[in-house]
Amino acid sequence: MALQGVMDALKKATLEEIGISLSLADILRDIQINGTDVKVVLFSPSDKYHEFLANKAKEVLTGLGATSVEVEFTDQPPTQQQQPPQPPPQANPFETRRRIPGVKKVIAVASGKGGVGKSTVAVNLAAALKQKGYNVGYLDADMYGPSGPTMLGAKDKTVRAKQTERGEVLIAPESHGIKLMSIGLLLPSEDTPVIWRGPVLFKALTQFLFDIDWGDEELDYLIIDLPPGTGDVQITLGQTAEIDGAVIVTTPQDVALIDVKKGIQMFNEVQIPVLGIVENMSYFVCPETGKAYEIFGKSKTEEIAKQYGTKLLGKVPIEPKVAEFADLGIPITIAKPDSDSAKAFMEIADNVIRELSKQQGGN
Ligand SMILES: Nc1ncnc2c1ncn2[C@@H]1O[C@H](COP(=O)(O)OP(=O)(O)OP(=O)(O)O)[C@@H](O)[C@H]1O
Ligand SMILES: [Mg+2]
Repeated sequence: MALQGVMDALKKATLEEIGISLSLADILRDIQINGTDVKVVLFSPSDKYHEFLANKAKEVLTGLGATSVEVEFTDQPPTQQQQPPQPPPQANPFETRRRIPGVKKVIAVASGKGGVGKSTVAVNLAAALKQKGYNVGYLDADMYGPSGPTMLGAKDKTVRAKQTERGEVLIAPESHGIKLMSIGLLLPSEDTPVIWRGPVLFKALTQFLFDIDWGDEELDYLIIDLPPGTGDVQITLGQTAEIDGAVIVTTPQDVALIDVKKGIQMFNEVQIPVLGIVENMSYFVCPETGKAYEIFGKSKTEEIAKQYGTKLLGKVPIEPKVAEFADLGIPITIAKPDSDSAKAFMEIADNVIRELSKQQGGN
């Protein structure tokens, strides 16, 4: 006899005849099925109903094909397992979040998938905000494959530490007027592999979030460049720091868009507002003809954004110069402000500022 069938039948066996608005399933505390032999333990503190309940159970179970039915009673209240204790309503896993010192607005740049241009967008968003006259910082939270120092031409910058009343802090160096910090600046060489164990990663990342000196003047915006996916770094960040908004980067490919959905869901779970989606490598403009080619196919990003209650912040074309200048250490937004991609990044920066200002307490 299948347990599911037995349970269904017990659910249907109501006890209205004795004035109880429950079923046999509701008072079932244990059941053992051995072929066609069934043993049940029912909760009934008063032996007044034992005979009725035993007969009812036998009737239902023999109706299902049981040849032997044994009924026992218990007056023990249900165990905790059957009703898992609910956390107190005020418990909020995110209430231990702290603000990053010396920063007005914190923006995380994320993507579900690797290699979609997250670092390119993060660096150029920082550069665009800088061009607009804001005081900007860039934190490379890609603890496994930091590319920020290369893209900002800061590979040779040294990081000094100083003692303050909040303990030892690392002083963020500056490149193109942007303050930056990256694990890449602390490693002996670019090729040094970084292998993190959970607690060490947590400690290093927490130090990166809270123990950096971003300069005498408060940063208007700190851009955090995340590693791809939804891993340890994202979780640590979500639980420890107050992030004002997340920007999700994707390419128009379907596979990347699936990861966008995962990214949005992750930020929703950790209660970080999603400011919108940046579509990178949207189209290729032929330098000779000026004709645009959607080489990844027709974009569905806007549709996905709407579906998830967020916005498309902008589309960045594929331009070989973007990669060339990244390798040279100058963000395209600074190197070639007239290029299509630089214009796209400036527009994205405007949209990010606007979305942030819509939030409670925004400015
Ligand atoms: N719009 C673009 N036009 C041309 N090249 C681009 C563009 N965006 C990014 N690239 C190039 O694509 C490569 C991947 O970009 P990037 O490193 O920014 O991706 P990422 O998402 O940060 O990768 P990872 O997941 O490894 O951190 C780089 O070489 C970059 O210069
Ligand atoms: Mg990157």
